[in-house]
Amino acid sequence: MSLLSQINREKCPKHIAIIMDGNGRWAKQQGEMRLFGHAIGVEAVREVLKACVELGVRHLTLYAFSTENWNRPKEEVDGLMNLMVETIANEISELDENNIRLRSIGDRSGLPDACRNELTTAMEATKTNDSLDLILALNYSARWEIVDATKKIANKVKAGELNPSDIDDETFSKALCLGDVPDPELLIRTSGECRISNFMLWQIAYSELYFTDKLWPDFKREDLYEAVIDYQNRERRFGQVSEQLND
Ligand code: IPE
Ligand code: IPE
Ligand code: MG
Repeated sequence: MSLLSQINREKCPKHIAIIMDGNGRWAKQQGEMRLFGHAIGVEAVREVLKACVELGVRHLTLYAFSTENWNRPKEEVDGLMNLMVETIANEISELDENNIRLRSIGDRSGLPDACRNELTTAMEATKTNDSLDLILALNYSARWEIVDATKKIANKVKAGELNPSDIDDETFSKALCLGDVPDPELLIRTSGECRISNFMLWQIAYSELYFTDKLWPDFKREDLYEAVIDYQNRERRFGQVSEQLND
């Protein structure tokens, strides 16, 4: 039986988030420079995007560049930013044809002008598309996002628009970068690292975590299907006991 046919379409996650890791190690295995690994990683993004469209996933968030990644050698950082600009420019028409909306989370003001401009143009051009939101986490840090949300809430309180006693989970979720996007049900990290690396700390409170040893450039459609099947075989109890769920 094919992997795809094992997936229950009714129970697919609506939001999948992925920490795309392992490009550098993949390149090293091939005897290539790290940047080659990043370039091939773009192919994996295409694969996963197709799989998500196929499954009717509504939001796909990809961790593309963390605030900590600025600490990498300048050559790699510059190469990654150029790759981002090129990729967005090359893919924009295909995204649009497939009714995909490009969005981003993270501090866009800290991106190089060329990258921010390309991203803004693509986001504007696809803003009415509604089959899938492709959300790029760029210059992103979950702690930055949480601090930023706190500032927005504090300013509302200061302006007299919000009473501190009315602040709840929902107020907070709405103050994050994309307040209209539901939390991911499934978080995938490739490359065998079992850590979160400052990604979506608020939103993954109850996400199912899936770690695979596959390096990101080797991640194919079938790997996404496997992750979704694994997710569908889990029991999401949200604090309850099994018997309550099966009533
Ligand atoms: C993930 O691959 C891509 C980015 C962080 C931009 P890495 O570049 O972290 O690859 P490894 O972890 O060194 O193999
Ligand atoms: C996390 O990967 C960031 C992205 C995938 C963009 P890293 O490779 O930078 O994470 P650490 O440094 O190993 O935790
Ligand atoms: Mg890494």
